[in-house]
Amino acid sequence: MYNCAIILAAGQGTRMKSSLPKVLHKVCGKEMVNHVIDTIRKSEIEDINLVVGNAAEKVKEATKEKNVSYSVQEKQLGTGHAVISAIDFLKGKKGTVAIFTGDSPLITDDTVKDLFEFHKKEKCFATVITSIVDNPTGYGRVIRENSKDVKKIVEHKDCNEEELKVNEVNSAMYCFDIEALIESLSKITNDNAQGEYYLTDVIEIMKNSGKKVGAIAIPFEEIMGVNSRIQLSQAENIMKKRINELHMANGVTIIDPNNTYIDVDVKIGNDTIIYPGNVIKGNTLIESDCILYSNSRILDSTIGQGVTVENSVILESTVGDKTTVGPFAYIRPESSIGKSVRVGDFVEIKKSSIDDGTKISHLTYIGDAEVGSGCNFGCGTVVVNYDGENKYKTIIGNNSFIGCNTNLVSPVKVNDNTYIAAGSTITNEVPKGALAVARARQINKEGWVEKKGLYKK
Ligand code: UD1
Ligand code: CA
Repeated sequence: MYNCAIILAAGQGTRMKSSLPKVLHKVCGKEMVNHVIDTIRKSEIEDINLVVGNAAEKVKEATKEKNVSYSVQEKQLGTGHAVISAIDFLKGKKGTVAIFTGDSPLITDDTVKDLFEFHKKEKCFATVITSIVDNPTGYGRVIRENSKDVKKIVEHKDCNEEELKVNEVNSAMYCFDIEALIESLSKITNDNAQGEYYLTDVIEIMKNSGKKVGAIAIPFEEIMGVNSRIQLSQAENIMKKRINELHMANGVTIIDPNNTYIDVDVKIGNDTIIYPGNVIKGNTLIESDCILYSNSRILDSTIGQGVTVENSVILESTVGDKTTVGPFAYIRPESSIGKSVRVGDFVEIKKSSIDDGTKISHLTYIGDAEVGSGCNFGCGTVVVNYDGENKYKTIIGNNSFIGCNTNLVSPVKVNDNTYIAAGSTITNEVPKGALAVARARQINKEGWVEKKGLYKK
């Protein structure tokens, strides 16, 4: 049997008070609409059509890797009208279409599967996901006949006093028989409080024409729609909890899950320990046995096994096994740090590679450099990679000892097994095995202080 899905994502989301269309606001690092697309895909529905309208180009751009087709709803005249805009997608198809909204990111693939299963087993023409809630304000109410079969859905603004008391709400997630849906959509009107064409009216139309309508009720946590920034933060909290619990189930220790922020696609190995205040984002992989002490931000990076990180920022880089980072280190994009490296306090590394075992313990800047293995950087080394116009490369061989407060003026090469005297400003290549001293000689002017009358007794 043929299955497909439509996701409604044409609205602006006025209540968000944002220049960004609502469905592109992120929950745990991923746009809401992309959460919905990924969840539907996980339930093995391949053919997905996205209804776009407001900021259509932005929504298309943000979803361009998802292999979905698009329908355009020029004017946002309601959820029913949005589905009518996708009629070309549906025409000629026989089977089941799931309709979801791009502003309900918490739905799970298990529920989508349950929805299809129920819909088919019960031979329904429409099946709606509902939820029983304490506070149904703002949601469409599911009105049942003699508290049994679903009769209709009434939007909050159209409810009479009795209907307002109903606490079973519409999730705006459904399965429909494609042909029955097309037929019913031709009958909806905009004769309601909001002057919109509601998709929800299709339920009553089907029911009245003798077609079976089913419903499955699930916990509110999964159906919550995001219409405001407050709801966005609530959705974030629910998803954060799910993500953290999944990692803990996989053997990761999270000291304070309320205060640990891990994006949905992050992968973490077991026996890694995460202290509060960490923000782990994007496509990050953290291997097992790491300790992430408090307050780091790690984005799109790969962190090897047994790495320790504290109070640091790591962006778009790789860090090898058993390396320690921080406190207060800043590893900027396109850096590759080897194994058992030390990147200590107030060390900044930009677009550089650092090979195994090298120690950069404190107060150092390394930019556009290739650093070998087994090197030791004294405190306060600066790679002078920028002359105000261009950036240049520095190469440092293996087992080099870079004395404190060295400037390495790029482009420059320091060969293997070299020593650089503290305070040197290196502008020429340092040959293999050499000691380079590049600083003014010290002169002592004996008795100078007394002669100047500055000597304090
Ligand atoms: C909708 C349901 C309501 C349900 C609630 C659950 C209707 C009429 N109401 O209300 O019963 O309880 O969701 O969250 O369906 N959209 C378009 N084009 C439009 C209008 C909306 O694409 O013309 C999209 C929006 O981008 C959004 C989704 O449809 O992603 C839902 O629209 P929204 O205005 O948020 O509907 P609700 O008022 O929340
Ligand atoms: Ca909504």
